[in-house]
Amino acid sequence: MSAVARKLSVVPGDGIGPEVIDQALAALDALGTGIEVDVLDHVNADTFLRTGVALSDKDFTRIAASDGVLLGAIGDPRVSADYARDVLLRLRFDLDLYVNYRPAKLFHDRLSPLRDATRRGIDCAVVRENTEGSYTGAGGVLRAGSPHEVAIDVDITTRHGVSRIADFAFRTARREVCLVDKSNAVPFGGGLWQRHWRQAGQRHPGIGSRHLYVDAAVMKLVEDPTRFDVILANNAHGDIISDLTAQLAGGIGTSASVNLNADTGFGLYEPVHGAAPDIAGKGIANPIGAILCVSMLLDQFGCPDESEGVRRAVNAAIGTGRVTPDLGGVLRTDEAGAAVRAKL
Ligand code: IPM
Ligand code: MG
Repeated sequence: MSAVARKLSVVPGDGIGPEVIDQALAALDALGTGIEVDVLDHVNADTFLRTGVALSDKDFTRIAASDGVLLGAIGDPRVSADYARDVLLRLRFDLDLYVNYRPAKLFHDRLSPLRDATRRGIDCAVVRENTEGSYTGAGGVLRAGSPHEVAIDVDITTRHGVSRIADFAFRTARREVCLVDKSNAVPFGGGLWQRHWRQAGQRHPGIGSRHLYVDAAVMKLVEDPTRFDVILANNAHGDIISDLTAQLAGGIGTSASVNLNADTGFGLYEPVHGAAPDIAGKGIANPIGAILCVSMLLDQFGCPDESEGVRRAVNAAIGTGRVTPDLGGVLRTDEAGAAVRAKL
C-alpha cells in the first residue's frame, strides 16, 4: 500500500457512465490507496437540460485543482453535440491534455475477432494528438440558411503540438512509432507532421519509425495487428483508429484511455466506450474499461504495484469468463466488477 496524498475528481456523467464508474470506484476503494475522491455527479446532461450550462466555471476550477479526473461518459441523445464539446473538449483544451493515450491489448484469445491465431497478439497503443487538428472549433458558417451555405472547419497543425506528441510517442514506444496521416492528400499539415515526427525520431535513436497513410493503416491493422507498437496520429485519425484497435483487442468495453498533460502529469481518465444510451440503466454495461482507467491513474499517482494488481485481476476475471454479455459472459455490471475485485 502506498502513502499517497492525492485527490481524484470523478465525473460519472451520462448513460452507462455512472454504472461503470461505481465499479471503478469500488475497485479503487478495495485497494485502500488513500487517494481522496471528489465526485461531481451533477455534471451531466440532466443538469445541462435544466440550466443550459454544461460545465460551470466553478466545477472546472474544482477539477483543475485536483490531481486528475476519472470520467465515465459524456453524451446524451436529448442534447446537441455542443454539450460533449463543452464538457469533454473543454477539459481537454483548457487543461492542455495534449496526449490521448489508448492502449489495446488482447486479454484472451476467445475475444479476438480475428480467426487466425497468429494474428491475435495485439498489444499496441494509439497516441492521439488531443488539442488541435480539426477539433478546435475554429471555422464557421457563411450564408447560413441560403442555397449557398458554406461550412468551414479549420484543420490546425502546429510545430509545438506535433513535436510534443511525437516525443511522447517515442518515449512510450517499446519498438517503433508508426506515424499515420493523409499527407498525400492533405499536404500542409501532413508535411509538418512528417518533418517534426522525423526530428523527434532522431531524438530517440533506439526506437524505429514507420509511416503509413491512414487508409492503408486501417487495412494493415486488420490484416496483422501484431505488427504495430505505437500508432501516432492527429486528433481525428486517432479518434477513429482507437475505436478499431479497441475492437480488435476484444471489444470497446475493455478499452481505457488517458487524456494527459505529460508535462504536469494531470490526466483525464476515460473508458473509450462512451455513454451507450441504448444499454444505459439495464445493468449490463461492461465495467472493465472504467476499471482499467483506475489501473492507468494508479500508475500516474505513484502506485505501480496496485496498478499492475488491477490489470492482473482483470486478466483473471476475463480468463475465467466472469464477465458481462458483450464478452460472452452472463454477469451483470456489478457482478463483473465484483469478479475483478475478488481477484485483487
Ligand atoms: C472520444 C469521443 C469524442 C472524440 C467525442 C465524444 C467528441 O469519440 O473520446 O473518442 O471524438 O474525441
Ligand atoms: Mg471516439
